[in-house]
Amino acid sequence: MATTGQYTIQTFVEDARRVLGAADGDRERVVRELRPLVEQVVWDDGLFDERFRAEPENGRPRYLYHHEPGGSLQIYVVEFAPGQPTPVHDHVTWGLIGVCGGRQRTTRYARTDDSSDPERATLELIEEEVLPRGSVYPLLPPEDIHRIETVGGEPSYSLHVLGADLGRQHRHIFDVADGTVMAVDGRGM
Ligand SMILES: [Fe+2]
Repeated sequence: MATTGQYTIQTFVEDARRVLGAADGDRERVVRELRPLVEQVVWDDGLFDERFRAEPENGRPRYLYHHEPGGSLQIYVVEFAPGQPTPVHDHVTWGLIGVCGGRQRTTRYARTDDSSDPERATLELIEEEVLPRGSVYPLLPPEDIHRIETVGGEPSYSLHVLGADLGRQHRHIFDVADGTVMAVDGRGM
């Protein structure tokens, strides 16, 4: 009997490595093929097994399942506490985010200017919605700019499947209202 509840994070890690290896650098294909698998694995309660606990990221607890040497595939869950939204930021890599606990107000933007000014950026709102467990969305540059805010009094959790180690990426934080952008190295957000 195959049910979605039986699809485990361990199997997902194997599947994700295989999909990435077969895609030959086609990040749209990676996202397209991994999305239905992320939609299943966010229901695996094994995500929260204590053996996966890892170093917090910017004070946010994490569960780590896979860190590909070289950084080409990162798979982990981040805990977002109430009252501590992320800034509007990018990842500069392909990604899939899957909500696996609580509720997350997720705001996504596309950058519409030509990126020639290092201090100015114009963002266009793509979507803002409150996502419960089971919700999955892709991040593909230039539409990889987003903000996450926990809704309600309990923490929320999302699975991050990313094509780079954010700790080593040159990224950006945006002020949407002011139309400004700031370059940042690594996590720091
Ligand atoms: Fe992010």
